[in-house]
Amino acid sequence: MNLAILGTGFIARFYAEALLAQRRKDRVVMAFGRDPQRVKAFASQYTIPHYRTVLAEAVSHPEVNAVIIALPNDRHLEAVLACAAAKKHVLCTKPLGRNAAEAWRMLKSIEAAGVMGGYLEDLCYTPKFLKSLASVRNGAIGDVVWARSREAHSGPHSEWFWNKTMAGGGAIIDLGCHCIEISRNFIGKNIRPVEVMCWADTRVHPIDAEDNAVGLVRYANGAMGQFEVSWTFRGGMDLRDEVMGTGGTVWMNNFLRTGFEMFSAGGQDAYVAEKAETDRGWLFPVGDEVHELGYSHMFTDMFDAIDNHRQPAETFYDGYIVNAIIDAAYRSVASKQWEPIGIDDWRGATDTTSTTSLHSFNDEYYLVKEELLPSGEKKIIVKNKKTGSIERWVG
Ligand SMILES: NC(=O)c1ccc[n+]([C@@H]2O[C@H](COP(=O)([O-])OP(=O)(O)OC[C@H]3O[C@@H](n4cnc5c(N)ncnc54)[C@H](O)[C@@H]3O)[C@@H](O)[C@H]2O)c1
Repeated sequence: MNLAILGTGFIARFYAEALLAQRRKDRVVMAFGRDPQRVKAFASQYTIPHYRTVLAEAVSHPEVNAVIIALPNDRHLEAVLACAAAKKHVLCTKPLGRNAAEAWRMLKSIEAAGVMGGYLEDLCYTPKFLKSLASVRNGAIGDVVWARSREAHSGPHSEWFWNKTMAGGGAIIDLGCHCIEISRNFIGKNIRPVEVMCWADTRVHPIDAEDNAVGLVRYANGAMGQFEVSWTFRGGMDLRDEVMGTGGTVWMNNFLRTGFEMFSAGGQDAYVAEKAETDRGWLFPVGDEVHELGYSHMFTDMFDAIDNHRQPAETFYDGYIVNAIIDAAYRSVASKQWEPIGIDDWRGATDTTSTTSLHSFNDEYYLVKEELLPSGEKKIIVKNKKTGSIERWVG
């Protein structure tokens, strides 16, 4: 793949590191940035042969097959429209839009142009996520009842994130987009998200947008997705997921406690891990951030999808659904009510009923609960199928 990267900031560097890592055959041939000095330095650092300060020129360059958008949220729409006009495959970072209306325009533009739209949701490609999703899909934990995802740190690194208009919101749009898509994968992308209840507040930072939020997303099969986000959490970057099924559980700590702990009395005066707040005392470094944050698997899936004329695991349609859920979350914050999720073009199942089923104990009873007590006594609690009475099974 011959790639253009639009943007030279934080995520553009992560993407460039992922694309240059491990003798990849894909090449970044073009960089775009507004500032001539910065884009030139970026191109030189990553050995990128061309660079431009005009977006349309970068995208339409004949050597470019696919474009990676690593620009602030308010520039995604114009960049996607430029890629669609130039008929180039486009991979856009999260969140796809600042709202569902923007994401919808992006989705429609790439579909009309006949190019692929990949949604760069890296946290749905971490090795732990891919392994646990495969287990969940294989039935290892039964039917998913509840999927919780949390992302919390002390706040983003560039001024535009803190501007509600440019970013499209605060911690919900910035971090909640990851959490929502993680839960949605575990519950099943085919299952329609129906409504959202969300609390948000600005507790610590002097900004208009929310710096803390907790939301519940109810799905058509009764499953619940829970997101917890914060821009005021101290002590690093907390990325945790928890999935509860009728037959099992998954707990994942993705970043702050990965089994790698180090103590430094003197400090090292160098980068430790994303959003780490100190370089001394007990430290929680991450071995290979690019890999552990999912960037390697993500780009492999994206480029394989382009090569094989298939859709990647994370598409523009997924980005649009995430934006639609976030729009409902913001409405719920204002109304303090459950708010319906408006989806213009639902492409999943339409006949969903509750996935959880009653466990039959025998012809007469359902099983409610079975437990071995500390005394050694075994208790079995059952429900009579006809009368509905709850009873202790005595054999
Ligand atoms: N895990 C992830 O997937 C992840 C992590 C961080 C950021 N992001 C996303 O990446 C995007 C960029 O975030 P970032 O952290 O790299 O921000 P950043 O501020 O570090 O970099 C933004 C880049 O865009 C350029 N830029 C700013 N305004 C511009 C404009 N008007 N026109 C053209 N270029 C402009 C800046 O010069 C810079 O090169 C955002 O959408 C953000 O949500 C994703």
